[in-house]
Amino acid sequence: MQIVSSIAQVRAELRRRGEIAFVPTMGNLHAGHIALMHTARAYGETVVASIFVNRLQFGPNDDFDRYPRTFSADCAQLAAAGVDLLFAPAEAEFYPEPQEYYVDPPEIQRQLEGAFRPGHFRGVATVVLKLFNIVQPQAAIFGKKDYQQLMVLRNMARQMALPIEIVGGETVRADDGLALSSRNGYLTPAERAEAPRLHRLLQEIGRAICGGERDFAGLEAAASAELNAHGWTTDYVAVRRQSDLQVPEGNGREALVVLAASRLGSARLIDNLEITDSGGH
Ligand code: PAF
Repeated sequence: MQIVSSIAQVRAELRRRGEIAFVPTMGNLHAGHIALMHTARAYGETVVASIFVNRLQFGPNDDFDRYPRTFSADCAQLAAAGVDLLFAPAEAEFYPEPQEYYVDPPEIQRQLEGAFRPGHFRGVATVVLKLFNIVQPQAAIFGKKDYQQLMVLRNMARQMALPIEIVGGETVRADDGLALSSRNGYLTPAERAEAPRLHRLLQEIGRAICGGERDFAGLEAAASAELNAHGWTTDYVAVRRQSDLQVPEGNGREALVVLAASRLGSARLIDNLEITDSGGH
């Protein structure tokens, strides 16, 4: 695997390659990221990954400074997964001057995650467009764990006519159901034992909806209360339409997804579950 830190060198190296499938990351890789690398193989002859902890998408009280940086271990995993080229720029290479031009996503950037992390999706969309301009992939793969991010980027690619297929990769979970995340490393052993409750509650909501329950607000409130009763501080539990992440209307028979974000100790965990059969017939 080639490891490249300059934009000019990435361009030079990739000029003569065939179709490129790209997986942007912020490093601290786990099996969820590696699954995305394997998915990428099906979308291009050359698989490119990036590692860049993007300051623009972190708020002033977010975990930019303590975000885990594990570069050598990441490189070993990427090489073992057969990645061809890793782009890992220093901040001064990627943002040599203050970034003043941004991609400003529409109203969705202020909902759900965006309501609790103002400016987050603007920072994500901006870095991803810049990475796309550098790597020029034909396909890019993003994990479904960051469901809203995937939707924002898919909509950006469509509205900006980017010649890039945006692919969603399934969430990888530990045996007890906890979605793999770099932020799981912030959990103490006791919190780690508690953490699967988030996924269990999403499954319960999914089962209730499949069974015909239509009081979404009631399901959301009950799940939040249950989390908070076990030491969590919940930002949101929300049943939304898969298509646009808006509140379901009418009888809610459209494809739904339930999304949640909650803090446990010093970790803020997010998760979601697509509800394929929304029941209620
Ligand atoms: O999902 C992430 O790790 C980041 O938001 C991304 C897409 C690499 C942009 O910094």
